[in-house]
Amino acid sequence: MESKTVMFSALFLVWLTLVNGSPASLEVGKLTKATNVSWSSYNFKTILTWGPKPVNYTYTVEFSRVGRDKGRNPHCIRSSETECDLTNELELKGVYSADVLSESPLGSSDYVEPPYTRSKTFCPYNDTIIGRPEFKLKVNENKKIVLIIQDPITALHKDGRSLNIRDVFKKNLKYTIAYNKAGSTGKKILTVDESKAEFNSLDEDQSYCFSVAAYIPSRKGDKRVGEWSLPKCSPQEHKTLIEEYGLAVIGGAALIILAFVIAVIVLIVVCCKQARRQTSMAKETVV
Ligand SMILES: *[C@@H]1O[C@H](CO)[C@@H](O)[C@H](O)[C@H]1NC(C)=O
Ligand SMILES: *[C@@H]1O[C@H](CO)[C@@H](O)[C@H](O)[C@H]1NC(C)=O
Ligand SMILES: *[C@@H]1O[C@H](CO)[C@@H](O)[C@H](O)[C@H]1NC(C)=O
Repeated sequence: MESKTVMFSALFLVWLTLVNGSPASLEVGKLTKATNVSWSSYNFKTILTWGPKPVNYTYTVEFSRVGRDKGRNPHCIRSSETECDLTNELELKGVYSADVLSESPLGSSDYVEPPYTRSKTFCPYNDTIIGRPEFKLKVNENKKIVLIIQDPITALHKDGRSLNIRDVFKKNLKYTIAYNKAGSTGKKILTVDESKAEFNSLDEDQSYCFSVAAYIPSRKGDKRVGEWSLPKCSPQEHKTLIEEYGLAVIGGAALIILAFVIAVIVLIVVCCKQARRQTSMAKETVV
């Protein structure tokens, strides 16, 4: 019995050592290592998240650009939150990783290195998700459809002004436009360098539907294309009958209909006369 208890305690100690990483942290065994440390970044608003909610301990975030000193955000030191906004700490083209340290709330004099979990690397310029752009559809003086795209605003500021994605990516920003005839499924793709696109070879009297996404060719894989906008459709041109078919065709159709009506009337009249003659002949034979 007793040896079993001893063995279990020993196993428990070994387990604690494994979980906490270093024997020095045994006495603060309640510290839990952060799990699910991940970056989420949308239009350059960048937040590090993790779990679980801490009980009787705190988390501190240390981020570092590969090969540089560690940095901290004052809001994410000995905090009981499970997220840290690093939007204003990261340089655009830096490649970062972050450590989430579990620390006792009082002080860490009694152990050497707090348990921590390291995030994957993250680069704002290459990894932030570009949100769906808004756009307007116009028809210019030559009756061509023009798309005017609004560059999405980012969470970044410069000189008291919000930067949009054109300010950030400059010539690296393109837009990809998917379009199709209303009611048809065959989509076409057009990529443009500017925040504007003119369509010169569309059928004038057709309605077309468009969706737009930011496109950054210098990125890798599926990070190249941002979120797709909701589709917008150009109005269908409503022509009058005469515009659509021409006066001659409509006149011709009217003539044909008229001739048909006359023929039917003539036929009915002839038939009636014949029927009447037949009945009167029948009466004569009976009499
Ligand atoms: C980590 O993520 C997994 C799966 O996404 C989830 O089941 C688990 O609850 C998460 N853990 C924490 C501590 O948030
Ligand atoms: C947290 O600390 C309080 C007060 O010291 C204690 O009563 C409680 O049991 C602790 N909770 C855990 C999960 O250790
Ligand atoms: C972004 O990704 C591209 C393609 O993988 C790479 O060449 C470039 O160095 C990356 N930029 C940064 C700032 O890491």
